[in-house]
Amino acid sequence: MPFVDRAIREFDRALRSVAGVSHAMRSNPSAEIAEAPLSEAERRHAAALMRVNHVGEICAQALYQGQALTARDPGARLQLEQAAREEEDHLVWSAARIRELDGRPSLLNPLWYAGAFTMGSAAGALGDRWNLAFLAETERQVEEHLSGHLERLPAHDDRTRALVDAMREDEAKHRQTAQQLGAAELPAPVKLAMRIAAKVMTTVAYRV
Ligand SMILES: [Fe+2]
Ligand SMILES: [Fe+2]
Repeated sequence: MPFVDRAIREFDRALRSVAGVSHAMRSNPSAEIAEAPLSEAERRHAAALMRVNHVGEICAQALYQGQALTARDPGARLQLEQAAREEEDHLVWSAARIRELDGRPSLLNPLWYAGAFTMGSAAGALGDRWNLAFLAETERQVEEHLSGHLERLPAHDDRTRALVDAMREDEAKHRQTAQQLGAAELPAPVKLAMRIAAKVMTTVAYRV
């Protein structure tokens, strides 16, 4: 597909991500799981954690879009597009769970998107190896982050937990894909900077 067509398609995806009109390709992993009785505080807490995850998925859309546009190798691009589709599932699932919990997505989503796209494009400008390195490290941190959420979520909130668990499994796969495609290892200060940026994002998104 020519670059301009791909760019238009990715722009369309960006608008859909931020506007919340994406489509899931796979069925929702929590579909068959009964809703647990949650207290008001538990419900609010779970909704806030899912808002954080949803912001993470907005950022994933932005990163993968940058990737799909800049990846030079067609084989790599295909695998990245597959991962991007799975990220779109995550986006849809987490938005649905926020609604079920009577929460709302982050008001700052366009800002998160723009920030992630800027960082992803900067990494993309450095070439495939560094682009993939950035992606692999992002996936690693998201994976850790989702593990943390499994500890913090109400123990009996099986529906939310099923989603977080399924997402975590995908993120591990995405990290392996990026590594297999030849990701470099990021320097420690860059990883630290990414952790600090993620900390800011998760702290703000928990509330707003
Ligand atoms: Fe994801
Ligand atoms: Fe991922």
